[in-house]
Amino acid sequence: MKRALSLTLFLLLAIYASAGRASYDIIPLPQEMKVDTTQLFILADGMSITYDASNAESSRIAQFMQEWVKEATGIVLGLTPDNKNAQVKLRLASPTTLKGKKNKKPVAQTEQEKESYTLSVGKDGIMLTAHEPVGLFRAAQTLRKALPVTKGQQAAADGKQAIELPFATISDQPRFAYRGVLLDCARHFFPLDFVKQYIDVMALHGCNQFHWHLSDDQGWRFEVKALPDLAVKGSVREKTVIGPSRMRIYDNVPYGGYYTQDECRELVRYAAERYINVIPEIDMPGHMMSALHVYPNLGCTGGPYAVSPNWGVMRDVLCGGNPETLEFLKTVFGEICDVFPSPYIHIGGDECPKERWQKCPKCQSKIKELGLTDESLVKVEGGDSRGTQDGRSAENKLQSYINQEIEQFLSSRGRSIIGWDEILAGGLTEDAIVMSWRGTKGGVAAAKQKHRVIMSPNVYAYIDHPQLKDYGKQPRTTDSYVVSCSKIYSFEPIVPDELSGQDSDYILGVQANLWAEQVAFPEHALYQLLPRLGAMCEVQWCAPEKKDFDSFKARLPQLKKLYDKMGLVYCNEVE
Ligand code: ACM
Ligand code: ZN
Repeated sequence: MKRALSLTLFLLLAIYASAGRASYDIIPLPQEMKVDTTQLFILADGMSITYDASNAESSRIAQFMQEWVKEATGIVLGLTPDNKNAQVKLRLASPTTLKGKKNKKPVAQTEQEKESYTLSVGKDGIMLTAHEPVGLFRAAQTLRKALPVTKGQQAAADGKQAIELPFATISDQPRFAYRGVLLDCARHFFPLDFVKQYIDVMALHGCNQFHWHLSDDQGWRFEVKALPDLAVKGSVREKTVIGPSRMRIYDNVPYGGYYTQDECRELVRYAAERYINVIPEIDMPGHMMSALHVYPNLGCTGGPYAVSPNWGVMRDVLCGGNPETLEFLKTVFGEICDVFPSPYIHIGGDECPKERWQKCPKCQSKIKELGLTDESLVKVEGGDSRGTQDGRSAENKLQSYINQEIEQFLSSRGRSIIGWDEILAGGLTEDAIVMSWRGTKGGVAAAKQKHRVIMSPNVYAYIDHPQLKDYGKQPRTTDSYVVSCSKIYSFEPIVPDELSGQDSDYILGVQANLWAEQVAFPEHALYQLLPRLGAMCEVQWCAPEKKDFDSFKARLPQLKKLYDKMGLVYCNEVE
């Protein structure tokens, strides 16, 4: 009898020689976890994943799960719909709600609850439960990140792969409904395959909003069918400045590239399958040199204009008094709406100097016609305005008038506008969402005016900046200040002493921005992004009382193993 028992044990061990053990110490850290490391479930080759056959999304998530288990561990799981005996079960039902975590935000609550899930590991296997497929997707990502990265390391005598998972119950949902990341594809053009990889990396970190910066002074990247020259000619600059713009040293190499509408639709589909919304940005009325190059009649002086080879803020902007400007913008935003189903469309609005408008007869006559007057030229608090004029001037009100026209146009298509915090200056339009980048002051002011806000303050969220104090240790990038992992991690979007009660309900979420003046290649973009997105996603996802930077650092090595497996470039030091 004793011999028989030990023989069984030996056989079990031989079949399931485990190559590693799962750890739920992942990034972002789930809200609630109970783990019992004394009991283990063995996941092994030949076991299977089941899902609701009547739900296409559930089936797709099961396929993702199958891929991810294989990627990390080499374990090959079968896919069997509606199979009670499967060891990994994806179930659409009410997950156990988070005890005592009643979120008071009426709008955001439903969004966050949609993403909630439970993940439990017990003697019968692994169960992922969620109200909605998006919750199953988040649960599957959590399981993916908990797996040991053991593929190719060790197999049992018969070649079967197996891993151990401690028994656990995890209940989770994000803190903020909006968890964004920007990629600037205007300053440098990134191939569509890389943009898809960026989406994959965002999904790994639980992000759900991809802000696609598609136009700027240095290049127009979105095909507009009614205005074919816009992308064909506006996407190409003749040369690019090397190093700081003030040095005026150029590479003399033409640089271009744009996305066709079919490619944009393909990206929207790809992102949606990963529960990420794509928010396109057409930055106006400043940052428009690429469009002015093609249509000089849209500028106050009539041009000629070049697609800018330099970085920085340009004094030439769209003419605010020319009716053709609004026609142009409505054509562009109309096609943007045809391609992007996003409920939010970003209209830019940042860094629009008004010196041309002050002297332009068309702009001044429009100001007169609208009865706009200077009220206050006091600077809006919030930091660096880089050549733009803050305060309630007539010209800033003219910018608000353009915003209002575009807001109404987009509203007729069922969309809301997002704008950079400069849109506060001339008075916010009714439904505008403010993206606070010059610190948090703009976001605080907008929330107090009962406008929705996305916090993206440069000193915490601009990941084009260096991540290490020693500039020599990293690729050359935007200098001036360091945005380290610990700096990002310390950010509290419900700004203490500034926002409380109902005002804080207007903070939709947080976003990291990867500007690309100094980032020309995918590998460099990934290096800027990682592991800082790990730090940012804990700001976006975790309850503030659960955040702890030392714990984050201790959990990072496990995530880096997955980065390695996924072939991702990242910065290996954390400050
Ligand atoms: C910005 O960084 N100009 C939004
Ligand atoms: Zn003008």
